[in-house]
Amino acid sequence: MLKDKTVVLGVTGSIAAYKIANLASMLVKKHCDVHVIMTKNATNFINPITFETLTGNKCLVETFDRNFQFHVAHVSLAKKADVMLIAPASANVIGKLAHGIADDMLTTTALACKCKIIVSPAMNTNMYNNIIVQDNIKKLENYGFEIIKPDKGFLACRDEGDGKMPSEQVLFSYIEKEIACEKDLKGKKILVTAGATQESIDPVRYITNHSTGKMGYEIARAAMLRGAEVILVSGQTNIPEVPFVKTIKIKSAQDMFEAVRDNFEQCDIVIKSAAVADYRPATVSDDKIKKKDGDMIINLERTTDILKYIGEHRNNNQYICGFSMETRDMIENSRAKLHKKNIDMIVANNLKESGAGFGVDTNKVTLITKDEEISLELMSKQDVAFTLIDKIIERMN
Ligand SMILES: Cc1cc2nc3c(=O)[nH]c(=O)nc-3n(C[C@H](O)[C@H](O)[C@H](O)COP(=O)(O)O)c2cc1C
Repeated sequence: MLKDKTVVLGVTGSIAAYKIANLASMLVKKHCDVHVIMTKNATNFINPITFETLTGNKCLVETFDRNFQFHVAHVSLAKKADVMLIAPASANVIGKLAHGIADDMLTTTALACKCKIIVSPAMNTNMYNNIIVQDNIKKLENYGFEIIKPDKGFLACRDEGDGKMPSEQVLFSYIEKEIACEKDLKGKKILVTAGATQESIDPVRYITNHSTGKMGYEIARAAMLRGAEVILVSGQTNIPEVPFVKTIKIKSAQDMFEAVRDNFEQCDIVIKSAAVADYRPATVSDDKIKKKDGDMIINLERTTDILKYIGEHRNNNQYICGFSMETRDMIENSRAKLHKKNIDMIVANNLKESGAGFGVDTNKVTLITKDEEISLELMSKQDVAFTLIDKIIERMN
């Protein structure tokens, strides 16, 4: 997704400058064309040769350097850039950008850029909280720059507080969000459910299912990268949270139902990929578990049918998609579900097919709508997520 995208990294005179070597390397591994521009002061913290070696491109410092890679370097590079990230951004460079000053290669290129410029302020806490710096940051925001809020932490100056540059992974996720995909879901709100629910039997044991949440998390990530505002209602998983996605963590099927009920009306698209534990202990009193001859007998009742609720309370502008896991008669059973629950699409998979279903990184699904059946090849869950969103967008237009 990042292949052949041009990323310009602006590095300023901050102790955090050394971390950008790792970020440059992460981007190169994703096949980005990475160009680093440093302020002269930044070269006190890390040598341009490091960036040149990692990126294969000349590291620009001097505005009037005779550069044979670019014709008028700052303008050519600014035109070519898909995104510019200034990290770490010193108080000095933030001040210059906020006032249109272009007295070095970095600030001159930034002024010439038409692409999004992301700024990651990094400095001592007192500098960061200085009203002038705060004012300049607000100015940049008003001019359309995206500001990455610094972390709190132990700073190089031995102070503790705001001003720490976030990890390279966080910086990477901002770049990825900006350039990975066309924003064909911009303005849309999507609710996705993922992961397994748990129904406590007693303080120690619970009923659950084999869902790992992989499919739902990939859908949430794909929708976010395509510009949607995403709410992810997540049961138990081992997957790290998806950046820029509002994640609501839940335990039981009732929790999931309540989170969906409270949020789905404001959404344009709802994708229910999670597999709920369909049953829970019927009562919450002490006698819910009876022990007979050493065996445990539990009265179970069905949990709320979340898809059915959505189908009953939806409006016709919403697109509702559910998942169905079958072991036999997949198409017939899924189609029946589509009608019964009053939804627009069922993503059906056959649990008996290898590479499909719980736990694995691949899936083989059939997309079923009122008048179509589209069988997709075996593919990664990431590719299923993107294809599913393609098909939903086609049907919504
Ligand atoms: C060891 C050291 C660390 C510094 N770290 C920072 C910093 O994290 N953030 C910052 O705004 N300034 C920091 N400074 C001050 C800047 O380097 C100084 O303001 C410089 O003029 C910035 O130049 P530039 O914005 O052109 O890179 C540091 C200075 C020193 C000596």
